[in-house]
Amino acid sequence: MVLFAALPAALAVPATPAEAIVGGVAASTSDHPWMVAVASRSVYGDLRSGQFCGGTLVSPTKVVTAAHCLYDETTGQRVDRPDLSVVLGRTDLAGSAGREVSVVDTWVDPNYELSTNQWDVAVLTLAEPQDPGSVLPMVSQGATAPYAAGTDATVFGWGDLHGNGSYPTTLHEVQVPMVANATCSADYHSGPSGTFDPRTMACAGQQALGGRDACQGDSGGPLVVAGRLVGIVSWGEGCAEPGHPGVYTRLSAMVSAVRGQL
Ligand code: ARG
Repeated sequence: MVLFAALPAALAVPATPAEAIVGGVAASTSDHPWMVAVASRSVYGDLRSGQFCGGTLVSPTKVVTAAHCLYDETTGQRVDRPDLSVVLGRTDLAGSAGREVSVVDTWVDPNYELSTNQWDVAVLTLAEPQDPGSVLPMVSQGATAPYAAGTDATVFGWGDLHGNGSYPTTLHEVQVPMVANATCSADYHSGPSGTFDPRTMACAGQQALGGRDACQGDSGGPLVVAGRLVGIVSWGEGCAEPGHPGVYTRLSAMVSAVRGQL
């Protein structure tokens, strides 16, 4: 304590915080075996196993992710990455633990709109079946309880830690409370990044405080409430800003269509 107090202020920086996603903590795929990285080494390089989005294993052969992960947002065109794959069981993407499994088929919700971010859900089919014990159950069609304001949710991903391009190689998670639809509608009404649609979206974050959020690179990843997949990282203005909570795909609005793909 005395030694610490004697350090010049400039040196009194905290030890490397385990903080990330934004404002979160380190997580492990051993505890969350359904957490997968959606990857293409040919496009995104080998450093982080080619990760560019998150995803969730919802059956032995199917992964739920965001539709926008399969689009080029500048051209508005669907991208077909020849080596699209899913990385399972690899907390640290700089390592080689777990396995990489090819994606042999992709389905995008037919209602998906790139320009409005509505119905932002896709299903990837894996080349080989995975352990049924590793899947995460999904929310029920039409369920509303998990989205009630203040409900504790957790979002997971390998995305940006601070909103400035600092991409970790290791998985992170952060707890975020669900935000009321009315609040989120007020926060995102015809803003530059988008309009909140309560039918197909849900918001989570420390609405007034900011500081905790998903960020770039977390897209497609899971928002989990009480052990069920309820949302998919979709969009937001900046990351972890007060008054701009994270916007997630409201899975309960389209889970029947997703189940039809399993
Ligand atoms: N669209 C981003 C992605 O592709 C995710 C943005 C989420 N942003 C947020 N503030 N929650 O990775």
